[in-house]
Amino acid sequence: MQQEALAEIAAAGDLDALQQVKTKYVGKKGLITQQLGSLGGLAPEERKSRGAEINVVRQAVQGALDKREALLKRAALDAKLQGEALDVTLPGLGLPSGGLHPINRVYSDLIGIFTRLGYEVAEGPEVEEEHYNFGALNIPWYHPARELQDTFWLKDGPDGSSEPGVPRRLLRTHTSNMQIRYMVEHEPPLKMVSRGKVYRYEATDATHEAMFHQLEGLVVGEGISMADLKGTIAEMARGLYGAGAKVRFQPSYYPFVEPGADFAVWWENPRGESKWLELGGCGMVHPHVFKAVDDLREAAGKERVYEGLTGFAFGLGPERIAMLKYGIPDIRYFYANDPRVMRQFRGELG
Ligand code: PHE
Repeated sequence: MQQEALAEIAAAGDLDALQQVKTKYVGKKGLITQQLGSLGGLAPEERKSRGAEINVVRQAVQGALDKREALLKRAALDAKLQGEALDVTLPGLGLPSGGLHPINRVYSDLIGIFTRLGYEVAEGPEVEEEHYNFGALNIPWYHPARELQDTFWLKDGPDGSSEPGVPRRLLRTHTSNMQIRYMVEHEPPLKMVSRGKVYRYEATDATHEAMFHQLEGLVVGEGISMADLKGTIAEMARGLYGAGAKVRFQPSYYPFVEPGADFAVWWENPRGESKWLELGGCGMVHPHVFKAVDDLREAAGKERVYEGLTGFAFGLGPERIAMLKYGIPDIRYFYANDPRVMRQFRGELG
């Protein structure tokens, strides 16, 4: 039977024919299967030797079936590809084009506005030392923003602790670290914007993500005042929303500015649901920040040049602008990489 089976397998010219041979021998009611089934009627010693014998046959047949099947499948695929041979004279189909991510579109609007106003664009680290994210920004060690529930701390030491004398590191919770870094490197007067990712350890929902973006701005010089700050924010709002854009300031508290404020713009929604859109925080740079910068400069062998000057800073979130501008209802859509969302931003760049 084995020889017959092997001969029939070798003769099977296609997958259908092979399937028939398979059913005939090892199918549920196949010849070999039947033989195995009849073992029950034998005496125990005979059952053992007979069983072993049938198994050898079954394995040989099954092995041959598998080999032949792989071969025939391969042949079928080759034939199919042959039939689909490329016609190189046909016109091309074209590739779907990519596009700028909505966050990058908002960033390029913003950066365009500020570079036209003469601002430098700076970039800085997302993994930051505690001092640049908090201490130098007048955020004391006992400030709740430093707490574990807000900040992702890095596990630097081998046991997850920090080494004595080595500064603790974290994922920056805002782009305000760039105020410090930029002033340590550059002399006043200055105008700087810095874009980037920031991280907060918090539960996510439609308006909160653990990672999001900010744009930081900093202006320092002699006689810079709150009026300059308000004018700058208004100019930004006009750049984003047109000449009639309205801006609102409300007193607020951030340790690194005094006085501090939150600002909002009047969002004229074409669908008629106009409202104040809270965009970010701002204020006059706190003297403690200038002192901390001069301390860092001195430690790096540079001149102390900031104490006695004035300046303003602001920080805002492009996600909020993009959500309203493009009607995106959930912040998590920005980073889920769902093609159904991103496809809508194909093509035009900006
Ligand atoms: N860093 C602040 C925040 O993340 C925003 C801010 C920037 C406020 C600059 C004032 C000045 O909420």
